Amino acid sequence: MAEYDLIIKSGRVVTESDSFEADIGVKEGKIATISKNLEDGLGDTTVDASGQYVLPGGIDVHVHLQLPFSGTISADDFENGTKAAACGGVTTVIDFAIQTKGKPIMDAVKARRAEADPKVCIDYGLHAAITDWNPETQAEIKKVIDYGIPTFKMFMIYKNEGWMADDGMLYSALEETAKWGGHIGVHAESVFVLDMLVERYAAEKEKWGAYGHTLSRPCVTEEEAVVRAIKWAEVTGGQLYIVHMSTGEAADAVHAAKQRGVRVYAETCPQYLLLNDDVFKQKDGHLYATCPQVKKPHDNERLWKGLATGDVQIVATDTCTFTTEQKAAWNGDFRKIPFGMPGVETMVPLMYTEGVGKRGWSVNHLVSLVSSNPAKLFGLYPEKGTVAVGADADLVVFNPEKKVTLKAENLQTNCDWSPYQGWKLTGYPSVTISRGEIVAKDGRFVGQVGHGRFFKRKAHGHL
Ligand code: URP
Ligand code: ZN
Ligand code: ZN
Repeated sequence: MAEYDLIIKSGRVVTESDSFEADIGVKEGKIATISKNLEDGLGDTTVDASGQYVLPGGIDVHVHLQLPFSGTISADDFENGTKAAACGGVTTVIDFAIQTKGKPIMDAVKARRAEADPKVCIDYGLHAAITDWNPETQAEIKKVIDYGIPTFKMFMIYKNEGWMADDGMLYSALEETAKWGGHIGVHAESVFVLDMLVERYAAEKEKWGAYGHTLSRPCVTEEEAVVRAIKWAEVTGGQLYIVHMSTGEAADAVHAAKQRGVRVYAETCPQYLLLNDDVFKQKDGHLYATCPQVKKPHDNERLWKGLATGDVQIVATDTCTFTTEQKAAWNGDFRKIPFGMPGVETMVPLMYTEGVGKRGWSVNHLVSLVSSNPAKLFGLYPEKGTVAVGADADLVVFNPEKKVTLKAENLQTNCDWSPYQGWKLTGYPSVTISRGEIVAKDGRFVGQVGHGRFFKRKAHGHL
């Protein structure tokens, strides 16, 4: 019997802090050795990584697979969405179990696990979205954390969906989660101003078309909500995570809060770095509607700066795939567009081309943003987010020279359009490995459905 199940030979291993040439031996899903000159014969399978990087697998902490939303269900389910993740070099995703008002959080968790467990092709976790607050919910927080879900989500909008949390709930949840080492992620937009503006622009919807979506959500609606949420974190001592941050103003607010010692972290997504609201003027502009919407070029630049300086610590995707057919439900009314877009499959290669290739980031910095910071903040470290003996063998062999033109028809995601259609990338994953199993090769899924496992995450995540 071979000493290792898999050997990855002659790659350049890159973690958030180190880069070195090495061979990696994998046994029973774990990294068993990192050394030089491992003989091929010692492994059942050998992957030649010469001339390529070996990175810890990407961790996308913000996906919505098969999410019932806007009268439809997001088009990438747990099976195809995790296949797409694997094809793009992502080895762990974190989705959401959304509490039904009046019901226990754990009901939602169990229901989501029943949907996900048989289908997932890579490891996954869940955040618990809190939509209700009462003594029972409060008492559940510690139980949910002990179960392996230390991170919660609260939506400051989405009244109609029954998901909205008010400030009192947010305050209480920050207090309670702080006791047990949890944190609260917020979707931060000012609901009352936003709803008023939505109706104002909807009154002239024929005139504005999809551009009404952006007119009705000016940057201040994110900034104000972020400032407010930060204030509640500051006075409660709770840990706050701003999801899908889209504006420069919010990045400034996070920066200022961090200077004051507030426990606040922020995520942005490729769409807020690479797209701007001119897309809504295009004929197919409604396809790009997501929530919050993509903003202005100066917001893109401030967010890039935030990633470079540490104001923004994580890149995730907010994957919520809707096809052109699903998006067509808008029928000229921007209020009816199913909000969301595909993303998990393209995050790592896009950030490599745009961050490392064009903006001179080190590969270590890329690894910190898409793998090790998410692992540390979300309680997956050190099993995930690094390349070290004893860690899960969640690895990506990444070819920095490979040229790819993104086309929806070549991607695994169940979507017939791509926000990045025709974009030319240099650098793409060539092999993705999930707990020692090869799950994707050259952008094609080759793994097993159901291989993924629910990861019980640890509390007290921080950077
Ligand atoms: O447009 C989006 N992002 N849809 C998913 C729900 C959310 O707000 O994250
Ligand atoms: Zn959101
Ligand atoms: Zn989301």
